[in-house]
Amino acid sequence: MNTRKGKIAVLLSGRGSNFEAIYKNSTSADSPYEIALVVSDKRKAKGLTTADEFGIPTNFVRPRDFSSKTAYEKKLIELFEKFKIDLICLAGFMRIISPTLINKYPARIINIHPSLLPLFPGLEAQRQALEAGAEVSGCTVHFVDEGVDSGPIIMQARVRIEKDDSEESLSTRILSEEHRIYSEVIRLFFQNKLKIEGRRVKILT
Ligand code: GRF
Repeated sequence: MNTRKGKIAVLLSGRGSNFEAIYKNSTSADSPYEIALVVSDKRKAKGLTTADEFGIPTNFVRPRDFSSKTAYEKKLIELFEKFKIDLICLAGFMRIISPTLINKYPARIINIHPSLLPLFPGLEAQRQALEAGAEVSGCTVHFVDEGVDSGPIIMQARVRIEKDDSEESLSTRILSEEHRIYSEVIRLFFQNKLKIEGRRVKILT
């Protein structure tokens, strides 16, 4: 029996709480995946330090060392190949990725976003939801395409917006749902239960 675990790379730019939640999930005995690599475009990203502490290989790849986005992403691809990465998980990675990377890993790059897409894409999604007077927001895990937060939706979780919510209080409640659904999606991916049909993703039971 082939017992090789799926290998994921987590790309982050900051705090890394989603990374930590994914890591925690990956350490359970029945996990079909492991985090093989953490990459950041910011040297001081807290998530990078945490990954070091967990003993996970890390790499700081500084954008300004590269002449173009293509050159930057070729370096990322080199790392992913070296670590035999099966799935790339963006978790607060503050860069828009291009076809160079997307075409190399079709349907193998996923992202988490703190709103119910297609509502409130881009930056400050929680603030956008509050400013719009929405009663419900949440988070979305989706496949990454060339647009901003626009790829096929895999899973969402809803969070009710309370009258006295601040950006911070809403973000905190959304974040705990992010932590839950991101790991769940990664598991489904490695159980071959995600099937893309056009713009829709079917979860096989
Ligand atoms: C999360 O809210 C995620 O949805 C967004 O960036 C934030 C990253 O938080 N893409 P963390 O670094 O995982 O704590």
